[in-house]
Amino acid sequence: MKEKIEELLREIERLKAQKLQEVEEIRVKLLGKKGAVTRLFEEFREVLPEQKKEFGQRLNILKTKAAEKIEELRRKIEDEPAANTAGFDYTKPGDRFELGGRHPISITREEIIAIFNKFGYALAEGPEIEDDWHVFGALNFPPEHPARDMQDTFFISSGPNPVLLRTHTSSVQVRSMERMPLPIRIICPGRVFRNEAISARAHCIFHQVEGLYIDKNVSFADLKQAVLLFAREMFGEETKVRLRPSYFPFTEPSAEVDVSCNICKGKGCNICKGTGWLEIMGCGMVDPNVLEASGIDSKEYSGFAFGMGVERIAMLKWQVKDLRLYFENDVRFLKEFDSVI
Ligand code: PHE
Repeated sequence: MKEKIEELLREIERLKAQKLQEVEEIRVKLLGKKGAVTRLFEEFREVLPEQKKEFGQRLNILKTKAAEKIEELRRKIEDEPAANTAGFDYTKPGDRFELGGRHPISITREEIIAIFNKFGYALAEGPEIEDDWHVFGALNFPPEHPARDMQDTFFISSGPNPVLLRTHTSSVQVRSMERMPLPIRIICPGRVFRNEAISARAHCIFHQVEGLYIDKNVSFADLKQAVLLFAREMFGEETKVRLRPSYFPFTEPSAEVDVSCNICKGKGCNICKGTGWLEIMGCGMVDPNVLEASGIDSKEYSGFAFGMGVERIAMLKWQVKDLRLYFENDVRFLKEFDSVI
């Protein structure tokens, strides 16, 4: 028995623990119901009476030593939290906090809006879920117009006045004409939806900024000047503009606006497909039918409207070749715009 006591004492001296959990395990192993020390106390009952005094003293010392050692180990862990994370270097720099950047579409949209704000255009917004009247009817689309067809428009309900997702933000212009006092000078940014197959050049969701100016004596020359000033602000002072005849149901006359290619400066490159020109928007004089549909006297008032795709402008500005990149949120792509303020 003496030997066992001595050996346990030596063992207790050597005990080490890293975690409180280990201290608890040691306590159970020594002082628990079936612990080594407890078991020695049971053996003590069998000891001869003349040896009881000596062994009794030794056993009590062992028990005290065990309790003291357990307490010492516990305190050491509790007092030094660093011991819990042994090997951790507190002088190491922390993890970098990654700051997100603005999306290229947001950057471009805000830039377009800022330019027109400077020209005195107010911001107007409207719902993405619209009715047939505000997207088509009030804009002089004849009932059988192909844009109303299932192939272009996402319909939410059918019937004589169906609910649908707007295919352009011209709907906001209609809502503004119905509501606002004249003259009107507004810019309408927003998301639009068209039922198109997704490819490098087309997407079923994209962003537009459309503009509308209605006043007395607004002429095509005013439109041309507005377009030219915008193009110079957006693509640089040297930018030239040309208008090509086009057709929209809501404008007459209508035109497509090209700017001189800012990559090759008009010499011809693969971005402008050798033409030296890039198409940036549609525009025209508001058709008198559209003014009348919103209760504006077309004999007294005239106006112009224009509309552009934000993705397209951003593509031209940064030579992005695939529209899908804007929607995939690939961090490698988005990071390229971190330095753009
Ligand atoms: N609404 C037209 C479109 O979505 C753009 C446009 C707006 C054209 C205003 C002319 C005038 O394509």
